[in-house]
Amino acid sequence: MAAVLCGLGAWLPPRVLANEEIAARLDTSDEWIRSRTGIAERRVADPGTSTVDMAVAAGRQALDSAGLTEVDAVVLATATPDQVCPASAPQVAARLGLGEVNAVDVNAVCSGFLYALATASGFIAGGIARRVLVIGADTFTTLVDPDDRGTVPIFGDGAGAVVLRAGDADELGALGPFALHSDGGLAELLMVPAGGAKQRRSDNPHDYFLDMHGQAVFRQAGTRMAEASRSVLEQAGWTVGDVDRFIGHQANIRILQTTAKYLGLPQDALVVNIERTGNTSAASIPLAMADAQRDGTLLAGQRVLLSAFGAGLTWGATLLRWPALANV
Ligand code: UT7
Repeated sequence: MAAVLCGLGAWLPPRVLANEEIAARLDTSDEWIRSRTGIAERRVADPGTSTVDMAVAAGRQALDSAGLTEVDAVVLATATPDQVCPASAPQVAARLGLGEVNAVDVNAVCSGFLYALATASGFIAGGIARRVLVIGADTFTTLVDPDDRGTVPIFGDGAGAVVLRAGDADELGALGPFALHSDGGLAELLMVPAGGAKQRRSDNPHDYFLDMHGQAVFRQAGTRMAEASRSVLEQAGWTVGDVDRFIGHQANIRILQTTAKYLGLPQDALVVNIERTGNTSAASIPLAMADAQRDGTLLAGQRVLLSAFGAGLTWGATLLRWPALANV
């Protein structure tokens, strides 16, 4: 039994934060941000809009696209749930009117959407669910220190979602194989030190924000995404030359370009929307999927490789042949 992608949705908050606005406040420039990251602007959720709100909006669109009003499970990838406890997925399910369904959060930060796809595929393979709404949603700007020029330009908010249904492995949209990995020994490269069980309170307000060692993360990201990508290609019996589109986590355009170089993949296979979104963590892959579906970059039948890397550290890859989708 395979998990088949059959619906897609996305939602971005309306407020645009352009590089110039950041440069007016912090010691940086539009030129530095564009050339070092590929980002021109990102979206920021206003204080009245939460991760659950964004997840509901993207989830509703994915259900419409799949032509469904019911699913058996909701898997929400997020590192920014509305509350530390409980998980946010049950609130998303309730707001979508999905009844008392199986609903769970998955936290693998920027790799979260891939881990959520794998979790949902497992529900389907195990006969636990036949239709699963998988959402990646993060309000990462709430974790960014407003005084830190190292992270403010990078991150944005948003949500993307897909619906998976039980089907056959040879159908368009069938997901897998997966490669998923972690290295918790490097957790401190990207961490919010305070507010969790280890350090509940801190007198230093900066401890409640993301502490990122950008260069070290950068060095790991391309290597790890290329490794995981090679693993799934080999398991599927595909060559790099078979790949029509590579949808990588949108953290930095230079990381995507490096990964393509390591893989020997032509740069024009890269799906890139980071210029307008920034790094939206777990939302980044489904947001890139939705943009590429809308502008015709993704076409039914194309062979698509997905890969992500993020805090944890976590990374992974999977692949599919792109399905025909409606109402995205
Ligand atoms: O999703 C996973 C999460 N995160 C990532 O994947 C992030 C991965 N890392 C990156 O994308 C990059 O490391 C950054 C974009 C964060 C930084 O780019 P970089 O090319 O690695 O810059 P750097 O940290 O090596 O800094 C180069 C210079 C430094 O100045 P000096 O020491 O050469 O004088 C920095 O102080 O650029 C300076 N710098 C800035 N200058 C202007 C750092 N941030 C800024 C800034 N504006 N915003």
